[in-house]
Amino acid sequence: MKSVEKNREFLKHVSQYIQIEDLRSDQQRGVPPPPLQKPVPKDAEVFDLVPPDKLSIALKPMIDVIDGRRSHRSFLEESLSFEELSFLLWATQGVRSISKGSVHTLRTVPSAGARHPFETYLVVDRVEDIRPGLYRYLPLTHGLLFVSDTGPEFKNGLIDGVLGQEFVGGAALVFIWTVIPYRSEWRYLSRAHKVIAIDAGHVCQNLYLASEAIGAGVCAVAAYDQEKMDALLGVDGTEEFTIYLAPVGKVRQKEMARS
Ligand SMILES: Cc1cc2nc3c(=O)[nH]c(=O)nc-3n(C[C@H](O)[C@H](O)[C@H](O)COP(=O)(O)O)c2cc1C
Repeated sequence: MKSVEKNREFLKHVSQYIQIEDLRSDQQRGVPPPPLQKPVPKDAEVFDLVPPDKLSIALKPMIDVIDGRRSHRSFLEESLSFEELSFLLWATQGVRSISKGSVHTLRTVPSAGARHPFETYLVVDRVEDIRPGLYRYLPLTHGLLFVSDTGPEFKNGLIDGVLGQEFVGGAALVFIWTVIPYRSEWRYLSRAHKVIAIDAGHVCQNLYLASEAIGAGVCAVAAYDQEKMDALLGVDGTEEFTIYLAPVGKVRQKEMARS
């Protein structure tokens, strides 16, 4: 089968795989569910984010947000506030409830089987009250974990990692989502991968809408070098790998006005 034809099959509901492979998922075999988020290393530097009910930022009306949404590739020098960052992280992966036995979470975005297979990394350049660096969101506690410092070399690596798309380097911060596929495979086996791709779209769409609501802009980026991005984040490329990213920054308000 040619690769285009093969990949079309990937988009179909592949219930036939279950018969072909005659497999039972790990969930059906009684294997315990994988952790809902990557562990927090001992002695890690962790910041509490502002919870959604304590936010005092002004948000645009929903109709203006949806009407104004577009991709932005040019950003102002202005920083985002810590509250705004808290809002964006909550809007994209915030947890509303954790099931008994920590089998699944319910979040601000939908996910097939509530598997939520993503981790959120942030390359912070301009956010008030936190220093530039690489961070990871902790959705279970609405916290932010400092991963490492970033400097000009890291930034060059990021631009290289996105195939030279320079505008990514001008963002106040860059969301980079990785996937831990087993979280979905535990339940869905070969059917996991189609729904993982769909799930990723929901996350980025919420980032577009939440950013628009605070006068910031986003551009979804799926054109990147897999090995380079995984190496930049320090993930293994098999059990966890980059799937999608999105630079965010304040944008000129007249660009966002409804026409
Ligand atoms: C899955 C996906 C991948 C994308 N990848 C890139 C990218 O790598 N670089 C880029 O500049 N824009 C990228 N975009 C943005 C699209 O080019 C943009 O959404 C499209 O041109 C429509 O413009 P609009 O978002 O302003 O409506 C991507 C969008 C999506 C949904």
